[in-house]
Amino acid sequence: MYDAALELIGAKPKPISTDEYRRRVNRLTSQLRPGDLLIVPAAAMAVHSNDVKYPYRTQSDMLYLVGWDEPDAVLTVHRGEDDWITTLFVQPKDTLKEIWEGRRPGIEGALKGWAIDEAHSTHDLHSQLSTMLSASSRVLLRTGIRPEIDAIVVDAMERRDRARQHFGTGPVTMEDPSARIAELRLRKSAAEIEQMRFASEVSSIAHVAAMRNTKPGRMEYQLQATIEGFFAYAGTSGWAYPSIVGCGDNATVLHYHENNDVCEDGEVILIDAGAEYRGYAADITRSWPISGTFSEAQKEIYQLVLDSQLAAIDKCRPGLPYNAPHDEARRVLAEGLVKLGVITQTVEEALDMDSGDLKKWYMHNTGHWIGLDVHDVGVYKPNGEPRLLEEGMVLTVEPGLYFGAWRPDVDCPPRYANLGIRIEDDVLVTSGDPDVLTSTCPKTIEDIESITGTPF
Ligand code: GLY
Ligand code: MN
Ligand code: MN
Repeated sequence: MYDAALELIGAKPKPISTDEYRRRVNRLTSQLRPGDLLIVPAAAMAVHSNDVKYPYRTQSDMLYLVGWDEPDAVLTVHRGEDDWITTLFVQPKDTLKEIWEGRRPGIEGALKGWAIDEAHSTHDLHSQLSTMLSASSRVLLRTGIRPEIDAIVVDAMERRDRARQHFGTGPVTMEDPSARIAELRLRKSAAEIEQMRFASEVSSIAHVAAMRNTKPGRMEYQLQATIEGFFAYAGTSGWAYPSIVGCGDNATVLHYHENNDVCEDGEVILIDAGAEYRGYAADITRSWPISGTFSEAQKEIYQLVLDSQLAAIDKCRPGLPYNAPHDEARRVLAEGLVKLGVITQTVEEALDMDSGDLKKWYMHNTGHWIGLDVHDVGVYKPNGEPRLLEEGMVLTVEPGLYFGAWRPDVDCPPRYANLGIRIEDDVLVTSGDPDVLTSTCPKTIEDIESITGTPF
């Protein structure tokens, strides 16, 4: 089955080039001033149980700036005589450790293959960092990732008066660089978009595989396995976020993760699952009938959500505010629910954020930035005003309707009881029409019904 699915996916893109990493760091250093020291730490590994660790995934800022993905690394950027110097602290070569834990590029490997100027062993971090700190006047560090690094910086700052007295050196201020790096990450390069397109294609075809593998009696975790198995088979690093696989009323729980129920004839299943490739996330939701055929009532809600999603995608255009897709989706959903008799208020009343009834059935936002983090960085309202969309930004568009009959806070319309529908795609803003990176994943009623339950 997976081989037939693989044929539907394009070739893997080339990795991000070292030239591009250089450009990224240069864009950041062009905002810095002499005397600045940027420190980007990567977390240590986390314990799963006893001596078993979780698979390691480094910080996205580290991935963005140099693409180094080993644990414990620290990136620094400081001013040399006439240029900025990028230094990476890495785990040194250690044959015994490498026999057990895996091979390491080490210091020489890092210098050869990555866009850095200097590399040192993590064993020398304390002394080297202390030297850099004494020559700096401002430290740019996101605290809280590596407490021991925070402590080195705090120590240097606490000693600054004394150091200044003797040598006239030492950091006096500290800034979190995350917001500056986030601004860069918000606009995706052509090479980043290629990675995201691949993650999106794999995720789209994984959903198709799950649709084809659907029949009454399947367990939710079996469809989860179909999807996540394909993520691995296609050469991605796996899920970008834990998969949500819920049928019937489980689909009305927004972050349902149990994934252990039986899929019954007559129910609709909602699967929200996306792969990560070279650190870049995809985020797709599809909803389809277990039997392969939607009931009339299910069709009414499905088509309404799809209409709202298509209208919202059309608002992913440069110059429109980031929340234009959300406002559009809400308007279409409110009009539809009034027409279906689910809401007895006027459309305007239904849309009211305090007293409107729309939020009973649609209670989340319509999307978020996506990139190296599935909920990617970037302030939505810089200076309090909605950000305007620009070419190269990528956002999800994911309206839904959720009729949880189990909820004590609402009177669920019996016709739609226990139905949850969400449709989610990842959309690149371009100078032309919106580019749906996940468009390979079917979403019309006709396409979904023709695929569901029919093996490759
Ligand atoms: N998968 C999480 C989300 O859709 O935001
Ligand atoms: Mn999403
Ligand atoms: Mn999602």
